[in-house]
Amino acid sequence: MSYDEFYIKSVVRAIPDWPEAGVIFRDVTPVFKDPRAMRMVCDAFIQRYMRTGITHIASVDARGFLLGSVVAYQLNLPLVLIRKKGKLPGTTLSREYQLEYGKAAIEMQTDALEPGNRVVIFDDLIATGGTLLAAISLIHELGAEVEEVAALIDLPDLEGSQRIQDSGIPVHALLAYE
Ligand code: PRP
Ligand code: ADE
Repeated sequence: MSYDEFYIKSVVRAIPDWPEAGVIFRDVTPVFKDPRAMRMVCDAFIQRYMRTGITHIASVDARGFLLGSVVAYQLNLPLVLIRKKGKLPGTTLSREYQLEYGKAAIEMQTDALEPGNRVVIFDDLIATGGTLLAAISLIHELGAEVEEVAALIDLPDLEGSQRIQDSGIPVHALLAYE
C-alpha cells in the first residue's frame, strides 16, 4: 500500500471550538478507526526508523502510545512510557508544562532509560511543543539521547516544532495544518 498524504489528511477530523472557544481540535481518532490510514501512518514511521541505530521508542500519554507501540513492536525495540502525572508506580521524575489550553505534568520511571540509549519520542500532535519539550527534558535527565521526535500532525502556527528544533532536536511530522 503506497503512502497517500491526502488520504490521511482526509481522515483527520477538525472540531472547531473544542475543548474551548478558539481551538481547532485535530481529531486523530478516525485514523485509529481506519486500518488503511493507520497502516500508512505506522508504515511511514517504521520505514524511517528501521536500521537507524535507535535503541528505544518513547511514547507520550495517551494518543502517542497508539503510534509508538506499533512502531516499537514492528522494529522489535523496547517501548518506554511518558505518562501523565500520578500514573506510574516506583521512583519517577516529573516535569510541568503549559498546554495550548491549560497546564499539566508528565513523568517517567527513573529506570526507563540510561546513558547510551538513543531514543525517538512519539506523539500524535505537536501544538505549542510544551509536552514534547518536557519529554525531551525528562529523557535528557535520565542521561539518554533524543535522536528525533515523531508526530502524525504538526500545527506550525503554534511554533512548537520550531521550539523543539531550536533546542537542537530534529522533528519529523507526517502532516501539517496551517
Ligand atoms: C495533546 C497531544 C499532545 C499535546 C500537544 O495531548 O496528544 O500530547 O496535546 O500539545 P503541546 O504541543 O501544546 O504540548 P493531551 O495532553 O490533550 O492528552 P491526550 O493524548 O491524553 O488526549
Ligand atoms: N493538543 C493540543 N492542541 C491540540 C489541537 N489543536 N488538536 C488536537 N490535539 C491538540
